[in-house]
Amino acid sequence: MAEPTITLEVWRYHPEQEAAPRFQPYQVPYRPDWVVLDALNYIKDHLDGSVAYRWSCRMGVCGSCGMTINGVPRLSCAAFLKEYYPRPVRVEPLANFPVERDLIVDLTDFLEKLPAVRPWIIRRDAGPPDAEFRQTPEELETYRQFSMCINCLLCYAACPVYALEPRFLGPAALALAARYTLDSRDQGRAERHPVVAGPDGVWDCTLVGECTTVCPKDVDPAGAIQRLKLASALAWLRDVVLPWGRR
Ligand code: SF4
Ligand code: FES
Repeated sequence: MAEPTITLEVWRYHPEQEAAPRFQPYQVPYRPDWVVLDALNYIKDHLDGSVAYRWSCRMGVCGSCGMTINGVPRLSCAAFLKEYYPRPVRVEPLANFPVERDLIVDLTDFLEKLPAVRPWIIRRDAGPPDAEFRQTPEELETYRQFSMCINCLLCYAACPVYALEPRFLGPAALALAARYTLDSRDQGRAERHPVVAGPDGVWDCTLVGECTTVCPKDVDPAGAIQRLKLASALAWLRDVVLPWGRR
């Protein structure tokens, strides 16, 4: 009996050579244990070596295989063909980013924004090189989920605010700002505050929550942004309304 197949409609675009993008259909073997990335690798190996896309770990860790799959931003290494079969699977680049070629998008915007939130531990008193800064399990738990981000940028592809206002720092950068600000070892809240609460920061967020819905690592960027909004409001209250209470 012939092996069952499934159709992958792959978004193709080579900007230097083509005037407009197009969808190219490929018939690939249908195997229930295959993910979309397996099907793309089959195309690459057996049908058309010119298809361009990124991947590395194949296990939801590196964050490089994000694509729009049947309209939803997903990791292609975590999207099983059996979720779609026998319907075709339409594969497009992540939305809201310029396309370099086919399914590869240009991440420069995020990479330039990320350092602005200072995503590292800032200390005024670092102590000797072998100093230890211990945490309780409860202190770890306050930021642990925000530290799970793999920079896959599915949240930017899903964010309607980022789609309309590309200057917005965006969900992952702000989730990482929360990750470090909530860390009991960090003393950088005041340094991050002008950026986090500035004109392109948390107050741009309209609480749609799609970032959290699509996040494959349960990071909850929307929750991180709400926590930063609360901290920003409290800082304003302390510094402007109750300045005599300032430490
Ligand atoms: S917050 Fe989630 S969706 Fe956004 S980049 Fe990090 S892991 Fe990906
Ligand atoms: S290939 Fe690394 S997250 Fe999918």
